[in-house]
Amino acid sequence: MSDQYQAFSKSPIGKFVIKNLGLPAPLELDRFESATPVLKGAVLVGAAPNSIFSGEIAQVLSNIHANSYAGNNAELQQAAAKVGLTVNAFNEGDKESKFKAVVFDASGIQNSEQLHELYSFFHPIARQIQNSGRVIVVGLTPESAPTIQQAIAQRALEGFVKAVGKEFKKGIAADLILVDADAATNLESSLRFLISPRSAYVSGQVIHVSKANVLDIDWAKPLAGKTALVTGASRGIGEAIAHVLSRDGAHVICLDVPQQQADLDRVAHEIGGSTLAIDITAADAGEQIKVAAASKGGLDIIVHNAGVTRDKTLANMKPELWDMVININLSAAERINDYLLNHSGLNENGRIVCVSSISGIAGNLGQTNYAASKAGVIGLVKFTAPVLKDGITINAVAPGFIETQMTAAIPFAIREAGRRMNSMSQGGLPVDVAETIALFASSASTGLNGNVVRVCGQSLLGA
Ligand SMILES: NC(=O)c1ccc[n+]([C@@H]2O[C@H](COP(=O)([O-])OP(=O)(O)OC[C@H]3O[C@@H](n4cnc5c(N)ncnc54)[C@H](O)[C@@H]3O)[C@@H](O)[C@H]2O)c1
Repeated sequence: MSDQYQAFSKSPIGKFVIKNLGLPAPLELDRFESATPVLKGAVLVGAAPNSIFSGEIAQVLSNIHANSYAGNNAELQQAAAKVGLTVNAFNEGDKESKFKAVVFDASGIQNSEQLHELYSFFHPIARQIQNSGRVIVVGLTPESAPTIQQAIAQRALEGFVKAVGKEFKKGIAADLILVDADAATNLESSLRFLISPRSAYVSGQVIHVSKANVLDIDWAKPLAGKTALVTGASRGIGEAIAHVLSRDGAHVICLDVPQQQADLDRVAHEIGGSTLAIDITAADAGEQIKVAAASKGGLDIIVHNAGVTRDKTLANMKPELWDMVININLSAAERINDYLLNHSGLNENGRIVCVSSISGIAGNLGQTNYAASKAGVIGLVKFTAPVLKDGITINAVAPGFIETQMTAAIPFAIREAGRRMNSMSQGGLPVDVAETIALFASSASTGLNGNVVRVCGQSLLGA
């Protein structure tokens, strides 16, 4: 659905009105385009003394051929030289240079006094980040810090990043990657994602990286040879997920209810995928999914995207509306996972990706059923992650306001508020959710398990 305000804001009269009334001016965000570099523009790298992830950060920047700059930091220069990354000199007084991304390794910050390192690095360049740019801070997971003082300082990074996300405007996203002390080699997929236009609408988020096997993958086709199933794939976010997973190399089985057969066929045809027209609440849905994937080498990825809203205040809600929403959005995913995990229905290094919602984080008027179901999805991820075996992972995305038929049905005033009340001053696109799902689905994301990442442009709701 089109954002008429954004279109208006780009017209000469719109620019005039918006400037004079102090209204939010949504900027067109950069999004992924095939056959373009991961990062279009220069990156400035920094590190606090004694940081432990600079070597891996330099390795990733080298892998993506980033045009990299750094100030006078001997440790960082050494880490870069070791992996063959050419780092151009950046002089702090240089106010002319502009950066598309700024990456700071804060893992060496040992205590709260040393948080000044953040100020020293970011203050001088705060105005030198380009439109739709990135601020990425890499920290040490507080739980894996050797001292309480360091854990406290590392926990503080989250507040810094979230405030930067709200402050820098111009479509700049700010995110934090927290890496376990022994998991440096697992951070590549997260850093590649956050530094690229794939993460256009992901801001104020924390991605937690833990130790896992590192698999060799083709970054241009990270899902080559994989079979993925996407529920609710005939339209909206599910359709975008099917396209993105197919673009990344997967064979996609598109699942939706039989009433959606025509659209389901269309989507599957567009991506050379196959279809499965069933209701996910059917008792044998898990079995049918396993059977559908069997001829494609078994299932590697399942995306639980299908979902419904049936909004009513609790006082006015009929019991069948409560049950329906909980059943489709939560219980069906639980049953399908149980079946697949207990009947060898998911291949080794399999991926389960769920779709929650910021309504499940913040709650929402008229959505007691929906919010409970989507908070339950977060529980599903949190409590399933630790018990998974064979390299299987489970993670969730929690979309905010995304331009789909679901949000088009919201009354105008509420819709307009939902669309603007975020750091990007606009709604996200289905592809933004899909790209984040592709991060979790990637064979490279072995170290991502139990994460919930919001795709909400840093919505004020539940923040
Ligand atoms: N649009 C948003 O802003 C937004 C925000 C937060 C979360 N979400 C979540 O994202 C997901 C996709 O949302 P959307 O906006 O694309 O919705 P949508 O209504 O456009 O699409 C949902 C799809 O799920 C299918 N579906 C519903 N019940 C099913 C069932 N029992 N079995 C099989 N398929 C079924 C529908 O037929 C439809 O094709 C949902 O889980 C939704 O809750 C959306």
